[in-house]
Amino acid sequence: MKQTVLTLQAKKAQGEKISMLTCYDYSTAKLMDAAGIDMLLVGDSLGNVILGYEDTISVTMEDMIHHSAAVARGAKSAFIVTDMPFLSYQASVYDAVINAGRIMKEGRSNAVKLEGGAIISEQIRAIVHASIPVVAHLGMTPQSVNTLGGFKVQAKTLDAARQLLSDAKAVEAAGAFAVVFECVPAKLAEYITSQLTIPTIGIGAGNGCDGQVLVYQDMLGMFSDYQPKFARRFAEIGSAMQEAFRLYRTKMQDGSFPSQEESFFIADAIIDQLKQEAAQV
Ligand code: KIV
Repeated sequence: MKQTVLTLQAKKAQGEKISMLTCYDYSTAKLMDAAGIDMLLVGDSLGNVILGYEDTISVTMEDMIHHSAAVARGAKSAFIVTDMPFLSYQASVYDAVINAGRIMKEGRSNAVKLEGGAIISEQIRAIVHASIPVVAHLGMTPQSVNTLGGFKVQAKTLDAARQLLSDAKAVEAAGAFAVVFECVPAKLAEYITSQLTIPTIGIGAGNGCDGQVLVYQDMLGMFSDYQPKFARRFAEIGSAMQEAFRLYRTKMQDGSFPSQEESFFIADAIIDQLKQEAAQV
């Protein structure tokens, strides 16, 4: 069954947790879809884990559309959310609607995600009015790394906790159908979750949210530039990949790959004929 804004919101109402993982390509989308993951996030974290940037600032609309369309071709049931990249929505409401529309039309996504609270509520309202579902993203918002002074836990003081609550209510009022909380204290995320009707999805926000999201390279041990404390490794695929690459190199070097069974054949007479022709030249 295809997940929709309605099935996802029903999960909150029924107390059923929502699963979300980042995804950037067709093959991985098929695997996640088959595993029953509810939501695939084409995150601008692709800047870090796919493109090798140190932050998400350089990610473009073209990057997001390209990867979103690949994920959409692989996911049949999961609901796809695609990040709006840095400066594709902050400067004006017009930019926000046009760029969100491109992500839907060209990237074949089911929703867009924007970082920010009350300050971008006009953008959220206008995108929703254009019939595009919106997920908001609050707490540690990586596109603001330069104003936040680094990737740090947010909303630890009373004022900052009040601000997070009021931003969460603002994005809900503006029409966002879900909100991601990144790197905020668990009890605060749990409390705000209880104050909202829309689902909350946590990453580094404890288990009191309505769902969880992780960057898949983190949870599979495929990315070693840094490891956030909340990114539990559910498998060591990175070391399994490295081992397979090493084995491939060894086997092709010792001549045991490819084997007869892995090769295509031609009649000996054809090769003999070619040799004879070469000898006559
Ligand atoms: O881009 C991303 O991967 C994200 C998650 C960290 C929520 O926004």
